[in-house]
Amino acid sequence: MLNHGINVVGMFFIWDIIFGTGIITRQYPKAYGIQHYQQEEWYAQFAWPPRTADEVRGFERSMAAGAPPIIEALRAARAQIFGTGARRWLDVGGGDGTVAAALLGALPGVTGDVYNLPAVEGLVRARAASESRLGFVAGDFLAEPLPHGYDVLSFIRVLHDWPADVARGLLGKAADALAPGARLVICEEFRTPERLAIQLFWTYFLVGVDGCVSRLREVAWYEAALGALGFVDVQVIPGAFDVVIATRR
Ligand SMILES: C[S@@+](CC[C@H](N)C(=O)[O-])C[C@H]1O[C@@H](n2cnc3c(N)ncnc32)[C@H](O)[C@@H]1O
Repeated sequence: MLNHGINVVGMFFIWDIIFGTGIITRQYPKAYGIQHYQQEEWYAQFAWPPRTADEVRGFERSMAAGAPPIIEALRAARAQIFGTGARRWLDVGGGDGTVAAALLGALPGVTGDVYNLPAVEGLVRARAASESRLGFVAGDFLAEPLPHGYDVLSFIRVLHDWPADVARGLLGKAADALAPGARLVICEEFRTPERLAIQLFWTYFLVGVDGCVSRLREVAWYEAALGALGFVDVQVIPGAFDVVIATRR
């Protein structure tokens, strides 16, 4: 057992042996975690699927912590996404509503609903206290169709969590839910050699700790899938987080 501030089994093990920076014992440590981070149990940020209210809060909080570059990318693309006519937006797998609330601030006249598992409702409703145009729709996108009646439907850092057949199924549910002229938005990091190298590093570093898996897909995969489902005018806006916008035919 290697006992750092955080218990990580992986690439640093060899260096800890060489430099003597870890204490190597055959006993379980008395406590786990990052010493100065007391807000929830250490595993709450990495466990998927979350099983307790603490784990849900920890997971969604860690997602919200990474939201600023995503908000920036979506804000920059808001004219292409919402145009002048879009009024109703559904953010599928929208976390605790951090991204939707921030964007709604720049979108007068638009209302946004976060679609998420029922356990996340309290977090989104708490955020809605300071953004009255933010709503919540409970659902399980793996088990149910997506709700109808929205002008814009987004998957932000969602599709990359799922294998190709599931991601294609979710895009199909979006196609079924959207009326002609409505827009679909995908925002995540697409595959480039640099991102692949960084992901490889983190995957190795967090091996045995991180229960979440995300894949870097090529944007061409999405373009092909969207074309096959009858989406047109597919635009790709590259950035720190890439944005794809497509229109339902
Ligand atoms: C990687 S997080 C992304 C959160 C947010 N979109 C963001 O970028 O900050 C994935 C989100 O999908 C939600 N989710 C996972 N499985 C789901 C399901 N079966 N139905 C609805 N939402 C789900 C999670 O609760 C979480 O909010």
